[in-house]
Amino acid sequence: MALSTSSVITLKINGEKHTLPVDHRTTLLDALRERLDLTGTKKGCDQGQCGACTVLLDGRRAVACLQLAVAAEGREITTIEGVADGERLHPVQQAFLDLDGFQCGYCTPGQICSAIGMIEEHAAGWPSAVTEDVRPQAGPPPLTADEIRERMSGNLCRCGAYVAIVEAVARAAEAHTNASDEDAATGGTKEAVI
Ligand code: FES
Ligand code: FES
Repeated sequence: MALSTSSVITLKINGEKHTLPVDHRTTLLDALRERLDLTGTKKGCDQGQCGACTVLLDGRRAVACLQLAVAAEGREITTIEGVADGERLHPVQQAFLDLDGFQCGYCTPGQICSAIGMIEEHAAGWPSAVTEDVRPQAGPPPLTADEIRERMSGNLCRCGAYVAIVEAVARAAEAHTNASDEDAATGGTKEAVI
């Protein structure tokens, strides 16, 4: 009996369900771009090296070119099309815009999705390769430019807009910290920024 090489899957993307038949070899990146017209997620290297295709899977950043679409079924997928709140840009998007964190813009959707995930990782106290004190009780390290560069090192920018990208990520991270502090002070009645 011949094995089937395709399946009908349902992907939950930016809060909406999409049901489609896919070849089992289809990557999440190709499903997003070629099948669902969600072209905000970019294809650069198609082999996990550039970060242009970064999306959030259950809130954690992942490169969509190394993820099979069938394996993403049942997960919350967030693409650049889904990070804003209606007309209100996500704070990371706003920071990139305000500080010119891009030139041609091709890497930008991946940079922004990656930064959103990175800011949450940092706030949760995850150390990076350049964190000096990695003891859990030390808490999140200061988010220096070196910390941001290391944590964002999976996202390449061929235009070399790194200086402004680092500034934009720092500003968005600071806004996230301020919102979290305010949230704690008001007993959690305000919504988190990210
Ligand atoms: S296109 Fe996925 S990492 Fe480059
Ligand atoms: S802004 Fe052009 S590749 Fe990054």
